Formats: sequence, C-alpha cells, structure tokens
Amino acid sequence: MKSIEEAEIKAGTKVLVRVDWNVPVDEAGLPTDSSRIEATLLTIEYIKNKGGLPIIASHFGREGDSIETVINFAKQKYSVLTAGVEFLENLRIDKREENNDESFAKDLASKADIYVNEAFSVSHREHASIVGVPKFLPAFAGFHFMKEFQNLSKAFNPERPFLFILGGAKFETKLPLLEKFLELADDVFIGGALAVKALEMSDKNGVPIADNPKVIFPEGDIVAPDINPETLAIIKEKIDQAQFILWNGPLGNYEKGFIAGTVALARMLSESSAKVVVGGGDTLAVVNKDVQKVITQHGFISTAGGAMLDFLAKGTLPGIEALQNQISLE
Ligand code: 3PG
Repeated sequence: MKSIEEAEIKAGTKVLVRVDWNVPVDEAGLPTDSSRIEATLLTIEYIKNKGGLPIIASHFGREGDSIETVINFAKQKYSVLTAGVEFLENLRIDKREENNDESFAKDLASKADIYVNEAFSVSHREHASIVGVPKFLPAFAGFHFMKEFQNLSKAFNPERPFLFILGGAKFETKLPLLEKFLELADDVFIGGALAVKALEMSDKNGVPIADNPKVIFPEGDIVAPDINPETLAIIKEKIDQAQFILWNGPLGNYEKGFIAGTVALARMLSESSAKVVVGGGDTLAVVNKDVQKVITQHGFISTAGGAMLDFLAKGTLPGIEALQNQISLE
C-alpha cells in the first residue's frame, strides 16, 4: 500500500479523494461532531500545496440524503476547503456505489488522474468508490488512513501487558473480536450489555469466555446499566500495569444517560502512561473532546466504528486490499 507521499502530484493533477464525511448531524442537518472532516484536512491541504486539484467524494447516511449542508458547513469552517476544491454529491444517491458497479467506478475514475482513499472508516465496505476506483487509477492512502492502519495494527504486536476493554451492545459483531483478543491480550475487560450476553453465551453454548482467566467482568449486578466504583478500581489497577490498551464500546447504557463509567474510564486512560488506542462512534460520542485530546498525546483516537472492528478482527479490509492490489497500474 502506498502513501499519498509517494504520489506524483503536480500543478493541475486532479485527485479524487474518497473521504468519510458521514458525520452525526442535528435537526438542521449541521454536524455535531466534525472529527471525521478534520481527519481529512491534512491530505487535502497537502494536495493543494503541490498544486493539485482535490475532488472530494463521500457517502452520507443510508437513505440517499444530500450531503450539501455538511459540505457548506465544512467550507465555512475550514479555509483549506474554499478555493480550488471540487465536491461530489453523496455517493450513495447512485445505487451503483453500494452495488460496487464497475461502470460507477469508471465514472468516478474518469474525473481524476489519481485516487486517494482517506476514508478508512468506510473501507470495510466493498463499494465502488472504495474497491472499484483503484482498479482504474493509481491509488494511494491518505495521511489519516495510514495513521489508522499503523495505530490499529499495533494491537497485533502489542507492548505488554496488553489490556483490551470491550463494551457496547452488539454481541454478534463483537464476538469475532473478542475471540481474537482473548488470545492476543493479557487482560480482557468485558463491559456494557456485552458482558451480560457474553455470560449468557458461555452458559448456553459453552463458549469459553466466562471461565477464561484473562477475562474480567463488572463487579456486582451484571445487568446494572453502568459499571460501579469497585469495577472501576479493578480496571484502574490493570490500566496502571498496562503498556498498551485498546478500547472499543461504552461501558454503560449511554443512550439512556448512563455515561459515568465510560467518562471515568476515559479520564483514567487520559492519565495513564500506556499507549492507548480508542475507537467506535458510540464510545467517542460519550467522551469529552478535551479528554480525547489528552489521550491523543500518548495514543490514538480512531474515527472508525465498524471498520475498526473488522480490521481488528481480520487484520485487513477490502479498501486496504484494493490499495495493495493496484500497484501494477503505475
Ligand atoms: C460509519 O459511519 O461507520 C461509516 O461511515 C460507514 O457507514 P455505513 O455503516 O453506513 O457503511
């Protein structure tokens, strides 16, 4: 996989930049969290500084809504997006995007000389703009894409002790991850609704989670909507020993307002001296931006949700493979 730094971008080079500006919005359609937009700005600025012409392409939501309000918001907020940048409409308005239709990939490719994937967080999708376009253009990974790849990859060869903290509710999506990291990590804390389901699965189907000595479950009432101070104290002890910590998923029922445990954990991680990698849209929605900034000083905040889980479980993504496989084009 080649980084954008290896791309030949000269004055007038048209660069199709696949971004993930699928950001949460309020009732007026305005972004409530711009992290995913901000993560793409360095790449856009780099292209412009070389004299290139960025063409920004993103999906937005699943219903085929226009992305125009998000684009206008971003243009007003970030000066690098004003002159010399072209924007495409929500890619998913055209059904050929999600169907990975080759004709759509060709249409997109025909607009540019070079393709850059700066959308790690949607690179688990086999969509035309992710896996199709690199078949027709020299393709490169953007700066943030490379950071996601490099930082998440640390979990495969971690400094030890390695503490893995997994919360949230979607057991089926997280089970492969849990199985993998029960082998790779030294300690695994399972919280949130996931803890209840992990125990149920262990009881019913003999899945060896509950009696694995690496696993730590919340203290006290397992169905409580948030973790208690006793549990936090146990996690704190593990955090103090750990050299590497990977965290995905809130520890309480955050949708109903039970965020205290998750907020406390984030603060403990921000104060830890371990290398910390955090991700998942639900998790970050709960954690205060200032705390995220502190974590970034000795760790990494992933902008990915599903893609982070898939990458960690499988070690690769369709979007990564597409970049790795197209080198013969150049
Ligand atoms: C995300 O929000 O995780 C990405 O933008 C991918 O969106 P999707 O789940 O609708 O494909």
